[in-house]
Amino acid sequence: MAKNSGSKRKQKPTLADKADRHKLYELSVQCAESEIDFVDDTYKELRGYRAKLLREDFCGTANVCCEWVTRRKGNQAIGVDIDREVLNWGKKHKVGKLKANQRKRIKLLAKDVLKVKTDSPDVISAMNFSYWLFKKRKDLLKYFKSVRSSLKKNGVFFLDAYGGYDSFKEIVEKRVVEEGKFKYIWEQEKYDPISGHLISHIHFSFRDGSRLDNAFTYDWRLWTLPEIQDLLKDAGFSAVTVYWQGFDEDGEPDGDFKPATEGEADAGWICYIAAEK
Ligand SMILES: C[S@@+](CC[C@H](N)C(=O)[O-])C[C@H]1O[C@@H](n2cnc3c(N)ncnc32)[C@H](O)[C@@H]1O
Repeated sequence: MAKNSGSKRKQKPTLADKADRHKLYELSVQCAESEIDFVDDTYKELRGYRAKLLREDFCGTANVCCEWVTRRKGNQAIGVDIDREVLNWGKKHKVGKLKANQRKRIKLLAKDVLKVKTDSPDVISAMNFSYWLFKKRKDLLKYFKSVRSSLKKNGVFFLDAYGGYDSFKEIVEKRVVEEGKFKYIWEQEKYDPISGHLISHIHFSFRDGSRLDNAFTYDWRLWTLPEIQDLLKDAGFSAVTVYWQGFDEDGEPDGDFKPATEGEADAGWICYIAAEK
């Protein structure tokens, strides 16, 4: 009998074994470039000059902070995330890859967004619905108030939201990423219409049939746009604007977000919100 046969034989690692969940997340979920295009241009439209200091709440890998400091020499960024593991990944794989003069304009803080004290930024951003982890009205209001008081005079808070009739369903959506290298799978596992609580997961599957299940899990409240706008106004923001996407000739969202007071009852929509101090 061969020495290495049987149960002790080493299995070849699968593509899922070799995958890095943070890298897969950035490739399939985030588009820091278009997010910063929107934030930078909208701030200029609202205020008449460019923002310099941006604070990225729930910054994760600090992808957006990195994008911000590469835009202009005077730009500075502060990233806030409660999880040291994701911040360390960002320091190594994102911040560490920047030029020295860009790197030194980023500060990453392992803090709770409700408790953090920072210099007053021109912009605070909270993207990819991260603020939905505050499930009670009083907690979300507390966060919005703390954002408002942290902002510089004339500062603007940027956030996003999604909705539509599919957002209330328990469904699985799949999308091919990186020319078929892997699939991004969004699962809305449990939605409770009474509390509005939603449990979702991100899974990834690979060409060799392997899977990275529950790479990320979110325990959120599915807030609606009227609730979010009301809470921002209750927190004292002087103006709250929803930016809604148009459609291209194929009927697909065109990525061009414009101020709107009325939207379409789409199955699934994403929008930005700007709340001015
Ligand atoms: C959905 S990810 C967002 C990542 C990235 N900002 C994006 O736009 O894709 C949410 C992040 O919020 C962080 N987080 C959760 N609770 C937090 C808190 N109270 N204060 C700061 N960060 C928190 C998590 O560690 C996680 O990295």
